[in-house]
Amino acid sequence: MVRRILVWDVPTRVFHWLQVLSFGGAYLTAFSERLRNYHVALGYILLGLLVFRLLWGFVGTRYARFSSFLFNPGEIIAYLLAMVKRKPAHYLGHNPAGSVSVWLLLALGMFVCVTGVMALQDDASDLVVDMHDISTDIMLGVIALHLVGVLMSSILNRENLVRSMFTGLKSAESDEGVRHSYSWLGVLMVAAVIIFWFAYVKRPLG
Ligand code: HEM
Ligand code: HEM
Repeated sequence: MVRRILVWDVPTRVFHWLQVLSFGGAYLTAFSERLRNYHVALGYILLGLLVFRLLWGFVGTRYARFSSFLFNPGEIIAYLLAMVKRKPAHYLGHNPAGSVSVWLLLALGMFVCVTGVMALQDDASDLVVDMHDISTDIMLGVIALHLVGVLMSSILNRENLVRSMFTGLKSAESDEGVRHSYSWLGVLMVAAVIIFWFAYVKRPLG
């Protein structure tokens, strides 16, 4: 019997969409001196979200845990080959190919934010500023691949992965859904981000 089961808990979904907003906002505000305060505030929000995700990868629910999407190269290649033959196996959590973009995006996000904090220092070198700038471009490229991957997996497995990232639900024959959604933690995350935003942007520019 096919039923709807919970795969992505609320904190994972809140993390994902706030990450999209903060990255997008940081990008739009990156190129103007006047908007620097907004840029840095959005950057810190992304950094905070990534630190949260790092912890949630160890203590979160089943499909949010890093151990559930740690695949070896053989599994990744096998999945890609199956994709070419249009018969990829169905995974409830991240699939082996998708996991590569997930790992890359988490690591690149961290790198962009850490070099951003370094670029903020008075004695920041040109090298640091360049690394911040270039890693952002590399991340944009990986985001594009991520979107192509999400679209291809959705088509090949005939399931709407984007909708699942909003609702947390997927159709499955098994009863392997997670029991708790941790909605309260998602609410706490949104509240923390809003409070941080208003506290930070009030600071004088500089
Ligand atoms: C804690 C996080 C972040 C901090 C503290 C930060 C800080 C800064 C600072 C101080 C600069 C100016 C460097 C200079 O010209 O002296 C800068 C530039 C820039 N940031 Fe960030 N940033 C952060 C996150 C991000 C994120 C998430 C993105 C990606 C969307 C990003 C994209 C850029 C880009 C593209 C520039 C270069 C703009 C240009 O070429 O003029 N930053 N950032
Ligand atoms: C700034 C842009 C984006 C970044 C940095 C990003 C990053 C990520 C990360 C890190 C994950 C793993 C989630 C987790 O386990 O915590 C993920 C998953 C996912 N993202 Fe994004 N994402 C971005 C934009 C988008 C957009 C615009 C869409 C939809 C149109 C999207 C759709 C998805 C979906 C569907 C998944 C789940 C994939 C699966 O089912 O395995 N992402 N993304």
